[in-house]
Amino acid sequence: MAGSVLVTGGAGYIGSHACLALIEAGHPVVVLDNLCNSSPESLQRVGQLCGEEPLLVRGDIRDRACLDRIFAEHDIVAVMHFAGLKAVGESVEIPLEYYDNNVTGSLTLLAAMQAAGVNNLVFSSSATVYGDPATVPISEDFPLAPASPYGRTKMMVEQILTDWQCADGARNVALLRYFNPVGAHPSGRIGEDPRGMPNNLMPFVAQVAVGKRDRLFVFGDDYPTADGTGVRDYIHVMDLVEGHVLALQDIIAGPGLRVINLGTGRGVSVLDMVRAFEAASGRQIPYEVVQRRAGDIAACWADPGRAAQLLAWRASRSLEQMCIDSWRWQSDNPRGYG
Ligand code: NAD
Ligand code: WQD
Repeated sequence: MAGSVLVTGGAGYIGSHACLALIEAGHPVVVLDNLCNSSPESLQRVGQLCGEEPLLVRGDIRDRACLDRIFAEHDIVAVMHFAGLKAVGESVEIPLEYYDNNVTGSLTLLAAMQAAGVNNLVFSSSATVYGDPATVPISEDFPLAPASPYGRTKMMVEQILTDWQCADGARNVALLRYFNPVGAHPSGRIGEDPRGMPNNLMPFVAQVAVGKRDRLFVFGDDYPTADGTGVRDYIHVMDLVEGHVLALQDIIAGPGLRVINLGTGRGVSVLDMVRAFEAASGRQIPYEVVQRRAGDIAACWADPGRAAQLLAWRASRSLEQMCIDSWRWQSDNPRGYG
């Protein structure tokens, strides 16, 4: 594939790992990121790891002039669109910022792509679009019922992209629904660097292990699951980004719209995660069971069959590997990118 991939949100957690995977697969990248939730240090480290630092354009996906300049100055053949806000609780408090950033931002990006004649897009969607599923595992044809403004932004952008692809058969779109991405690059040089109190389980556990927080609060142990704690499908970020590279190559090879779950197909409870992280880190993870978190569901995991069929992709890294790599990142970089 000649030309570069524009990676929006490429300085962030998943985006930085995707940049590395793209470059290693021979696809040059240009990053557009406003750094509202990331550091340019992540891209410098990507450069150290693969010998080619991604070009960073500091700008906003809602800035049409900035997008037009990127498409005019670079030979962009495809876009991987990670940029957006992602905190479920915050989206309930400031919904307009979420709709503006995630929906208006995606519309602006699409209009600029259309004007530049760029037809290939891989979009970061989320299993949050399914809401509380009637059964598990979850396959792509399950009804969509997101329970938060954040989840609704993802569903809306999926609908917009579906209509955009349908309007012109030359357009190619992959909607990738991630389950729970965790872990870090095995070098320990890039990883997840949440600002303030982590919202998600794995970074919270990692911060307890490194001594930054004194204990984990387990949000409920009275769910109808084997040990009573919430069950999720944690997927190693390296598996996730390998799925992205395959999805990109797939849409470039053949036109159309693909909707694909990216998960392992395995459910892991909060207490399973605590035990696995203790084993990986050699540290104790003290925890206290508290009330359920509003909006949480009991159990959620993927049917990853379509990804296997369409992309010949399967997540291969174990829970142990996720914890080992997360711990290496956390212990080597106790203050993240600093
Ligand atoms: P992240 O916050 O680390 O990365 C997002 C990046 O986008 C950041 O670098 C941020 O600075 C940038 N950004 C945000 N708004 C922007 C804007 N308007 N213009 C330019 N840049 C902007 O998050 P992440 O975990 O890497 O998530 C990446 C994508 O994957 C997001 O769209 C998220 O909704 C989606 N996703 C994440 C998860 C998860 O658990 N991490 C799960 C499902 C889906
Ligand atoms: C996992 C489990 C919690 C923190 C969220 C978003 C989803 C997607 C991934 C973006 C649950 C429990 C957590 C803690 C705990 N992101 N927990 N103590 O809620 O499955 O998904 O991130 O698209 O949209 O909703 O992930 O990591 O927050 O929680 O007990 O301090 O850990 O109750 O059972 P979740 P999570």
